[in-house]
Amino acid sequence: MRSLIGILDLSTEEIDALIRVAEDIIANPDAYREKCKGKKLATLFFEPSTRTRLSFEAAMYELGGNVLGFSEATSSSVAKGESVADTIRTVNCYADIIAMRHPKEGAPLVASAKSQVPVINAGDGGHNHPTQTLTDLLTIHREKGRLCDLTVGFCGDLKFGRTVHSLIEALSRYTGIRIVLISPDELRLPEYMQNKLGSLDNVTFTETKNLEAAIPELDILYMTRVQKERFFNEADYIRLKDSYILTPEKLTGAKPDLSILHPLPRVNEISVAVDDDPRACYFRQALNGKFIRMALMLMLLDIQ
Ligand code: NCD
Repeated sequence: MRSLIGILDLSTEEIDALIRVAEDIIANPDAYREKCKGKKLATLFFEPSTRTRLSFEAAMYELGGNVLGFSEATSSSVAKGESVADTIRTVNCYADIIAMRHPKEGAPLVASAKSQVPVINAGDGGHNHPTQTLTDLLTIHREKGRLCDLTVGFCGDLKFGRTVHSLIEALSRYTGIRIVLISPDELRLPEYMQNKLGSLDNVTFTETKNLEAAIPELDILYMTRVQKERFFNEADYIRLKDSYILTPEKLTGAKPDLSILHPLPRVNEISVAVDDDPRACYFRQALNGKFIRMALMLMLLDIQ
């Protein structure tokens, strides 16, 4: 029995295999319609979500399985004071696989230690979000045809953005990756991650505050929302929330084949005027999230 807590729980070969399966699902959806017949996915979401929860649920339905769960902690017995460990032991009685989002870093890891069925981390605090990373990798692979030899800019909240942390960890596995970190001083990538990146030979990274100056060299621009819910102080959030706003004008010097990604939800950081640009990939990215989660659940349930 295997869980997915961090993206490094998967080998590079396994990530590549998941991408191949997801691309086969896209090409041959009918072949997968009954693969999870009789299986149940529980979605335990202790934090808000649109894409992650709904794409997990759509993924299980498209595999012929069923879904149960809750979308806010207040509608479960957690509101009565139940522990994560007891919730998980209970859900084990009803479901074959669990997707869990929690505001506390490490909660899905604790859950997986108590579980007899696979637990998938669907986001834990400001820490990790491995299934968003699989979604991002599938998107990059579909848009660019490769996961190596890319210059990737990460812009926005690199401190609290869990999707950034997981995607950087994953890209660090590939060759010829150049990372450009674009953030205000207060939202820089955590030091432990900078140190990790600095110790790798296959990846280089630079830091800047200037989005416009960085854009021309990028193959991928990964925009992120300033993570309001992780701030201790509202005044800091208000001061930083509009640090970067991507507009068509700022894209003037961009490569014609730039891919603009965003895990969504978007607040102000990408102007809606960018949505019609063919380089805007974020809604295609949201769709890819369903296909890669189908591939992942098949793998963790050991279904060929
Ligand atoms: C992200 C998350 O929850 O971390 N959203 C998502 O899962 N697509 C990004 C965010 O909330 O900013």
